[in-house]
Amino acid sequence: MASTPPGRDRAGATGPSPTARRPLIAGNWKMHKTQEQAEEYIQALLPRVSAVDGVDIAICVPFTDLQPMIDSTRGSPVEVFAQTMHHDPEGPFTGEISPPMLVELDVRGVVLGHSERRAFGGETDRALALKVPAALAAGLVPILCVGETEKERDNDETDRKLRQQINEDLAGVPDEQLTSVVIAYEPIWAIGTGRVATPQQAQEAIAFIRALVAGREKHAAEAVRILYGGSVKPENAPELLALQDVDGALVGGASLDAESFAQIVAATGPSRLAAASAARR
Ligand code: PGA
Repeated sequence: MASTPPGRDRAGATGPSPTARRPLIAGNWKMHKTQEQAEEYIQALLPRVSAVDGVDIAICVPFTDLQPMIDSTRGSPVEVFAQTMHHDPEGPFTGEISPPMLVELDVRGVVLGHSERRAFGGETDRALALKVPAALAAGLVPILCVGETEKERDNDETDRKLRQQINEDLAGVPDEQLTSVVIAYEPIWAIGTGRVATPQQAQEAIAFIRALVAGREKHAAEAVRILYGGSVKPENAPELLALQDVDGALVGGASLDAESFAQIVAATGPSRLAAASAARR
């Protein structure tokens, strides 16, 4: 074990190779950036990540920024994701956006079940049980967010909460499509608070989520990507991203600045860091 790089050797002899889990760094802009601000940002980000290799990069942007960001990132390593969607293809749902509407724009994926949408947007586990399979059926990559409140952690209810969310939200996903889902473990007490989970807390929760997926399908658990989210910054990213079961990050506040987001992307590995700084020279 000691001779292998931290965090990148966990597959058994029969599973996919460890590197099959390609890291994903996704920036969740939330309700930030007009089209003008988005354009300024992407022009700053693209040169900083153009030479980065071996990592998927996504920005999860407001609906109004989708088309311009898709146009501006064409041919670049940056993929564009939405932040939510309805599960039906169309219908009397004022203010909602459907999977085919996102697909038509060439959107690559969609954040589902973010704690802010669970709190204010009606994204219950029951709704997510429809949304996650609907995203997959449309060819979108869902980033399913799960995580416990501070009170639940204090009451030792973290595992129960994660089990409930994973079981219910993925109930409608066929076993063979489980590996196409990205899961983001986002402890609610760490979101936007500056209070990042300790490496041990992040690793434990994410390993537990992987074990839950293994309960459904062993090989899917070895391949499914699980991100950490909650106060990820350039300073704490290297340690979090080196953890054995952490396959990337969902980044809120620190993704709003192109330089700090690029630094987090570069933190997925030393070789990528070198590539990123070479690109800037
Ligand atoms: P934060 O947000 O990085 O600002 O804590 C993370 C998220 O909400 O996805």
